[in-house]
Amino acid sequence: THVAVLKGGWSPEREVSLSSGRECAKALRQAGFKVTEIDVDRAIAGKLEAMHPDVCFNALHGPVGEDGTIQGVLNVLGIPYTHSGVRASAVAMDKPTAKDVFARLGLRCPGGKVVTLDAFETGHPMDPPYVIKPIDQGSSVGVHIVREGDNYRPTGDDWTFGDRVLVEPFIDGRELTVAVLDGEPLEVTEITSDRGFYDYEAKYAEGGSIHLLPAPVPATIRKEALEMARRAHEALGCRGVSRCDFRYDDTQSDPGTLYLLEINTQPGMTPTSLVPEQAAFRGISFQDLVARMVEGAQC
Ligand code: DAL
Ligand code: MG
Repeated sequence: THVAVLKGGWSPEREVSLSSGRECAKALRQAGFKVTEIDVDRAIAGKLEAMHPDVCFNALHGPVGEDGTIQGVLNVLGIPYTHSGVRASAVAMDKPTAKDVFARLGLRCPGGKVVTLDAFETGHPMDPPYVIKPIDQGSSVGVHIVREGDNYRPTGDDWTFGDRVLVEPFIDGRELTVAVLDGEPLEVTEITSDRGFYDYEAKYAEGGSIHLLPAPVPATIRKEALEMARRAHEALGCRGVSRCDFRYDDTQSDPGTLYLLEINTQPGMTPTSLVPEQAAFRGISFQDLVARMVEGAQC
């Protein structure tokens, strides 16, 4: 089987994708596949049409690779690919749309709203503390926590993520995550970071965060997190792996309240990333994981 690993691209998460792609390609070669690594650019459709690999392993992150765009190209070319298809990718990447779907299912999310940039001209669009998020980015790119007295505004040169902004009340508490593989939730990981929140640095700098697996949370919370992740994955029609990120507020009540922040259809895929760690915890090696993803590729 000839597998083309799609990596890089031109989203803000290009570097993260180059790491995911390199590691997945290495493991796929060890698993016996013939592997070609492709740094994705705007000539990708022609390249893939000429090469016509048996499967594309999608190691892209962020816009184009994660939002249904590349998935649509692969559908047109008739090349099976790993991870979610067009619709699930597009819905998951658009955070407000995904939240609407989750809310309809009764999956608890932080409240919030979409505002335009002018909403910040006269003050805060909601009472601090709150979180400003781009509608459709990953890896905490563009995310800012606004606390009392903070005058940050998403305007000017540092805001390149469009006119519309998602604002959500900041949920105090802890950061949990659950990977889903082929419809089954794997485990709960707690992420701690001394950077205040799990931002880009905490995610990718050496020692920027600590993963506690399994998460030291009450059994009821673990069960609820696994079930919410399963239902979110299923509701959007995700395929292969996905990862749901949660805030767990244990400051107000016992055992506390779980909030689903988002589902990631193209989660980080190095051996020390959260999804492969949970797979390993369940006895699935990185090599077996990527091989299984290739076997499950669809178009
Ligand atoms: N957006 C990054 C890659 C993640 O969700 O893991
Ligand atoms: Mg994300």
